[in-house]
Amino acid sequence: MSEATIDRLVIDTPDDWHLHLRDGAALSAVLPASARQFARAIVMPNLRPPVTTTAQAMAYRERILAARAVTGPGSGFEPLMTLYLTDNTAPQEIVRARQAGVVALKLYPQGATTNSDAGVSDIRRTYRTLEAMQREGLLLLVHGEVTDPQVDLFDREAVFIERHLIALRREFPGLRVVFEHITTREGAQYVLQEDDQNLAATVTPQHLLFNRNAIFQGGLRPHYYCLPVLKGEEHRLALVAAATSGSTRFFLGTDSAPHAAVLKESSMGHAGCYTALTALELYAQVFDEAGALHHLEGFASHHGADFYRLPRNAGRVVLERRAQTVPAAVPFGDTELKPLCGGETLAWTFAGSL
Ligand code: NCD
Ligand code: ZN
Repeated sequence: MSEATIDRLVIDTPDDWHLHLRDGAALSAVLPASARQFARAIVMPNLRPPVTTTAQAMAYRERILAARAVTGPGSGFEPLMTLYLTDNTAPQEIVRARQAGVVALKLYPQGATTNSDAGVSDIRRTYRTLEAMQREGLLLLVHGEVTDPQVDLFDREAVFIERHLIALRREFPGLRVVFEHITTREGAQYVLQEDDQNLAATVTPQHLLFNRNAIFQGGLRPHYYCLPVLKGEEHRLALVAAATSGSTRFFLGTDSAPHAAVLKESSMGHAGCYTALTALELYAQVFDEAGALHHLEGFASHHGADFYRLPRNAGRVVLERRAQTVPAAVPFGDTELKPLCGGETLAWTFAGSL
């Protein structure tokens, strides 16, 4: 059967392996959308202040569960907690983290992105901690960009691989590493070529759907601005090929990163695309256009769980080929949030869980 004739997809319930849930009123505003589509999510620790200790992660988890209790549908949604790796994260903290159920640590090079000033100044300073993670079975989630001002913004991912990632993985071959939100052909090729069971990558919907022209089409469009920044078309095509190939090394991570619209539409616009509202529909569009709808379930629901060594979800969700218009704005605490593709029509619609 040609995939163009598929108008209903039933897949195992997916997970989001990279999500920013924020805190307080923002958390309450965005949690229901993710809980509706996903069973679990890897929750990013870049709050202000960042979640650097197990105690902070457990307290944050409680706040997420409290917000979840009032969302209604999706109340079984499970937040998977992470810690923010710093130069000073002690190896003993890793043991506490594992005992408490924390699954991963996030490496942000200092200054790379939103709320990353507490990030790592020199990766070698964290080596004793990485050794503990390798031993305890915690994953390392990498924001793979150098912050060297000499390096062009668009080259920062490729340079990170050369300068840091290769050496890090040679030093800790048993450490499971997720190269988060890859954006380049070099990133995709590195993951494919290594063909190592301890290396995988997440890919966002915006990096699969758009190239950097989107940021400048007819004027400056802040809602297409995220980090790592969108790249050229050759890179987008390489990401689509990798994500839709069926390779188990690639899986879904929205990097949905809500910022109040006023903060994005400013002279110093914040980085991040809000995609949680229609996450599965955006990915379905990519896989559909690539003629690879039969690989969507692996990417969205299996590869990530297998890599994290967690059970696959028991439930199923339904997607229908039915047009929907993405809301131009949604409430966000006492302000508003503009989703990616707001006001535009998507071909697929999430039709609930079975
Ligand atoms: C993220 C955010 O806003 O927290 N922004 C983004 O553009 N992706 C930070 C991040 O994940 O880099
Ligand atoms: Zn992120």
